[in-house]
Amino acid sequence: MNILILGSGGREHTFAYKLAQSEQCDSLFVAPGNAGTAQIATNVAIGVTDFEAIKALVIKEQITMVVVGPEDPLVQGVYDFFKADESLKNVAVIGPSKEGAELEGSKERAKEFMIAHDIPTAAYEAFTAETLEKGQAFLETLNPPYVLKADGLAAGKGVLIIEDLNEAKEELASMLGGKFGDASTTVVIEEFLDGIELSVFVLTDGKNYKVLPTAKDYKRIGEGDKGLNTGGMGAISPVPFADDTFMKKIEDRIVKPTVNGLTKENIDYKGFIFIGLIKVGDDPKVIEYNVRMGDPETEVVLPRIQSDLVSLFKAVDNQTLDQQEFKLDPRSAATVMLVSGGYPEAYDKGKVITGLEKIEGSIAFHAGTTEKDGAVVTNGGRVIAITSFHEDYREAIKKSYQNIEKLHFDRMNYRTDIGFDL
Ligand code: AMP
Ligand code: GLY
Repeated sequence: MNILILGSGGREHTFAYKLAQSEQCDSLFVAPGNAGTAQIATNVAIGVTDFEAIKALVIKEQITMVVVGPEDPLVQGVYDFFKADESLKNVAVIGPSKEGAELEGSKERAKEFMIAHDIPTAAYEAFTAETLEKGQAFLETLNPPYVLKADGLAAGKGVLIIEDLNEAKEELASMLGGKFGDASTTVVIEEFLDGIELSVFVLTDGKNYKVLPTAKDYKRIGEGDKGLNTGGMGAISPVPFADDTFMKKIEDRIVKPTVNGLTKENIDYKGFIFIGLIKVGDDPKVIEYNVRMGDPETEVVLPRIQSDLVSLFKAVDNQTLDQQEFKLDPRSAATVMLVSGGYPEAYDKGKVITGLEKIEGSIAFHAGTTEKDGAVVTNGGRVIAITSFHEDYREAIKKSYQNIEKLHFDRMNYRTDIGFDL
């Protein structure tokens, strides 16, 4: 079959890498892709939310499966666009419907869903400009730090954690006054949860599910988890402290009620659920849902799946995921992200990347790269993720760092402490 992946990051290169391994994959397309996907698939210069252009490509290339990487097309309803179109409705779209994508598109909706289905999460209330004063009074009833979240998508910047009460009150007013545009028309204020974070990934057909490997990502730019938030500077899978007892709690208290909730609410959901968790004491609590895979978590989760990914996706499409066997590589995986100097603030593009051919025993998943005059050059803040495997996650991390020594581009930056807190 012919398959299209939407997106251009390390996550999408990893999807391409896994899908290309399947005998069932005849032609693989990535829109828009990067220099890494260009080596194993055909890149097509189409934006991920240009649904009409995607439609034309799908028809022209007889594509029968579309795997959606990022959240934007999902929240904008790419699944529904396909299902409502006579010529596209039989195409398998791996990703939830617009209604399902609201679990990521609206923090308030996600909280309502968790409360309705008894899924453990932080206590919260939601406010708008009309209820600003109530919101400020609510802050007075909480203990610091205060957690303020823009309801809508704010490119990963919409969550603020503030120590000082007056500052939190001012920030609430500023958010409701349009600090994040429409994304902060509603603001969710929630109880601060103190604990260590991890993520659990689930593949579901809307009725059945498979729990994929856990992962932990490192979001801050600086060593020791200091400095500005990024898309993610590295990741490890599985998470060493997520033992069987803890995983059973996650499955029973969170995964099952989430999938059952989707079924009960008749929400079309054929795709990934990325559950952000905090381990508070010995108990998992949900901090957020994402309706896609994480990046760079994908770079450590997907390569550990040994089952054929096309078969799994076909089963997602026809709701027979329960009949699929699911095999995992028991080894740990670690990835370290190389980023452009300056990222996550302003950075330059177009720097030549050298040494990729010298990598041994690790995989280079491209993120922000492109080809120019026969060379691979930087084209984004996050540039390349180096993934390695080993029985011991510390050795996997070491292998990634050894290969990174061979790579170079002007102002290349990375964290040297991935896994430091495990
Ligand atoms: P989110 O965009 O919801 O993932 O939030 C971004 C980050 O804020 C999370 O990765 C957590 O580190 C932190 N965070 C969000 N909600 C809470 C909470 N209720 N308590 C503590 N930290 C939180
Ligand atoms: N690495 C976090 C995310 O993909 O949202």
